[in-house]
Amino acid sequence: MKNYFITGTDTDVGKSLIACALIQAFAERGCRAAPMKPIAAGTMNINGVDMNIDVAALRDVSGSKAALRDINPYCFSEPIAPHLAAQHENVVVEIGVIRAAFDRLKADADTVLVEGAGGFLVPLSLTQSMAEIPMALGLEVILVVGMRLGVLNHALLTVEAIRSRGLKLGGWVANTAVAGATMLAYDENHATLERIIGAPLLGTVPYDALSSNALERARRASHHLRMDTLLD
Ligand SMILES: Nc1ncnc2c1ncn2[C@@H]1O[C@H](COP(=O)(O)OP(=O)(O)OP(=O)(O)O)[C@@H](O)[C@H]1O
Ligand SMILES: [Mg+2]
Repeated sequence: MKNYFITGTDTDVGKSLIACALIQAFAERGCRAAPMKPIAAGTMNINGVDMNIDVAALRDVSGSKAALRDINPYCFSEPIAPHLAAQHENVVVEIGVIRAAFDRLKADADTVLVEGAGGFLVPLSLTQSMAEIPMALGLEVILVVGMRLGVLNHALLTVEAIRSRGLKLGGWVANTAVAGATMLAYDENHATLERIIGAPLLGTVPYDALSSNALERARRASHHLRMDTLLD
């Protein structure tokens, strides 16, 4: 099976929620999807371990028993741009380290879902960006589009950045991540995105005001996803 890079039109648009929902949807179809978050910035104490909250959610939902350093090779404590967080901790992000961890995860899964941090071109250093990761690992890209005013531009910029690097956009998800901010002309914006993105729409996920439990929320979101094109 192919492996996927989950990117978004911005930070906080629902990459982790959709990654968790995809893991659930794969599992419901008998497919073991291993999560990876190669670079995370921002930690909190979770059951006595300093961990990034996305990593904790991805681990919980997948039930992954993989080593934490493989799921999340680079974990920085400050919730700031990754290259700055790395600099502050005197760490240089190496794609080779990420590739080795990815290969170990892949050996024990049907597919690996790799969540980026922030948007597609977030820097890893002054010379590298997050885009190096799907290129180095041969990943198809899934774009989470945060449905709010301004997203047409963010979506088009991201799609152009993906395709101009020779990467395949395997699909996109329209997600409403913010409460009470229903996008005006939602249907027309959605239809415009469908026309101009020109890749499979994997699902349209509404705002979910129910429990904040990651597993429950991922399960509900997974019911809005269609998986046929990802399982080919
Ligand atoms: N459809 C939704 N309904 C309700 N809440 C949502 C929805 N999508 C996302 N959220 C919430 O919005 C917040 C941001 O979502 P999420 O953490 O998945 O974004 P992200 O793109 O992964 O962010 P980051 O760039 O930090 O990795 C979270 O609190 C999440 O639970
Ligand atoms: Mg996230």
